[in-house]
Amino acid sequence: MTVKAFRSAILDFIADPFFVSESESVRYLPDGLLVVDNGRIKELGAYEQLKEKYAGVVIVTYPNHLILPGFIDLHVHFPQTEMMAAYGEQLLEWLEKFTFPVERKFQDKAYCDRIAPIFIDQLLRNGTTTALVLAAVFPESVEALFEESERRNMRLIAGKVMMDRNAPEFLRDTAESSYHESKALIEKWHKKGRSLYAVTPRFAPTSTPEQLMYAGKLLEEFPDTYLHTHLSENVNEVAWVQELFPDSKGYVDAYDRFGLVGERSIFAHCVQLTEAEFDRLAEAKSTIAFCPTSNTFLGSGLFDLERATSAQIKVGLATDVGGGTSFSMFQTASEAYKITQLRQQKLSPFQAMYLATLGGAKALHLEDKLGNFEVGKEADFIVVDPRSTPIMALRNQAETPITLEALSDRLFTLIIMGDDRSIQATYLLGELAYDKQ
Ligand code: GUN
Ligand code: ZN
Repeated sequence: MTVKAFRSAILDFIADPFFVSESESVRYLPDGLLVVDNGRIKELGAYEQLKEKYAGVVIVTYPNHLILPGFIDLHVHFPQTEMMAAYGEQLLEWLEKFTFPVERKFQDKAYCDRIAPIFIDQLLRNGTTTALVLAAVFPESVEALFEESERRNMRLIAGKVMMDRNAPEFLRDTAESSYHESKALIEKWHKKGRSLYAVTPRFAPTSTPEQLMYAGKLLEEFPDTYLHTHLSENVNEVAWVQELFPDSKGYVDAYDRFGLVGERSIFAHCVQLTEAEFDRLAEAKSTIAFCPTSNTFLGSGLFDLERATSAQIKVGLATDVGGGTSFSMFQTASEAYKITQLRQQKLSPFQAMYLATLGGAKALHLEDKLGNFEVGKEADFIVVDPRSTPIMALRNQAETPITLEALSDRLFTLIIMGDDRSIQATYLLGELAYDKQ
C-alpha cells in the first residue's frame, strides 16, 4: 500500500501574504492530516474529518510539532560548503583570497563525490528540500551533485559556473568550452528525474561578452532551463561592471543585451540596483534571490525588500553559503527580518515562511509541483519542533496555537531562535530523508 498519512499541526500558504490578508493566504490546521499517495499529496484536512476515511492507513503522528512544505533555498554554492566564516574581506577580495582556491579542489571528481553527500545532508538537516545551486566551473562538480540528489530523490536545480576572465587560470573555461560543457550537461541532466538545469555565468565581471552571448544562446536553445547568476551585490563590483561593459547602461543592462533578463532568470543579491533596474526586473518578470546572511556578512548592504515586492518582483530567500553564514532557512529568515528592521520595513513571520516555500516555488515556476500541499503536488515536507532547545521550550510553553495570531508568534520564535535543531524530520516524496532522532 502506498498511502501514508501524517498527523500534526499543519501550515502552508495558498496565496501571497504580501498582497492578501493572512486569513486569505495562510492555511492552518491545528490538528491536521496530510495524506500522501505514491509520493504525491492525496488529501489535506482536519484529522477529525479524515480519520474514518483513512482508518486502515498507518498514521505517523507528531504531537506538538508543525508540518510545513519543504524549504526552497534559491541560491547556494555547492563548492563553498567548507568555507563559511572566512574572515575580514568584502566581495571581490573575499572571492580572490578564499573562494577561488577552495573551488579549485572541485576539479577532482573524487573530491566532488566526497563533498556532495555532505552538502545534500546539510540541506536536508535544515529542512531544505529544493535548492538552486551553483556548482564549480568543472562539469565534474555538476555530475557529482546531480548524482547525489538523484540518489536521494531530491528536486535540485544546478549548473556549471561559466567564467572565462578575471579569475585564476585554473578556474577559467573559455566562451566556447563553457557553451559545449553546459550543453552536454543540459542534455544529460535537465528534466532527468527531479533534476533541472540552470545556465550559470558566475557574474558579469568573470564573463567576456562572448561568453554571455553563449549563455543567451543556451537559453534560446533550451528555453525551459533557467538563468542563474549574481547581480548588483557590492558597490565596487557595480563600478567594475561599468568599466568592463562600457557600452552598457548599467549592471542589469550588461546581462540584458545578451538576452539573460527574462522570466526564468534568478538574480542573487540585487542590493545596489537603481530604480530603473528594479523597474526592468519587474517588467521582465525576473526573480531576485534575497541573501540576507551573506549581505550582512560580506558587508554588501541592505536589500530593499519592500521596493522589490511592491513592484511585484518575485523574491525568494537564499542562504548563499559560503558568503552566507548558515544553511538554515530559519536563520536566513531571521537575518532578513533584521535587514527589514534596519530599513524601517516589515517582514511578518508568515511572509518570511511564504518566501521560503510557495514564494520560492513560484520564483522557479514550479508552483504546480512544489511549495504547498495542494492535491497532486510532490510530497516534500518538513516536521518542525518549536521546543527543540531549552530556551525555545520555555518560550513556547503554551499549547499548540489555534489562532493565526498565536501561530504567527510561534513561527517567529522558530525564525529568530530556530535552526537545524528545530528540524525533526525531512520528507522527500513522502519518504523520510532525514530524521533528527
Ligand atoms: N559574486 C560572484 N561570485 C560570488 C560568490 O561566490 N559569492 C557571492 N556572494 N557573490 C559572488
Ligand atoms: Zn552567491
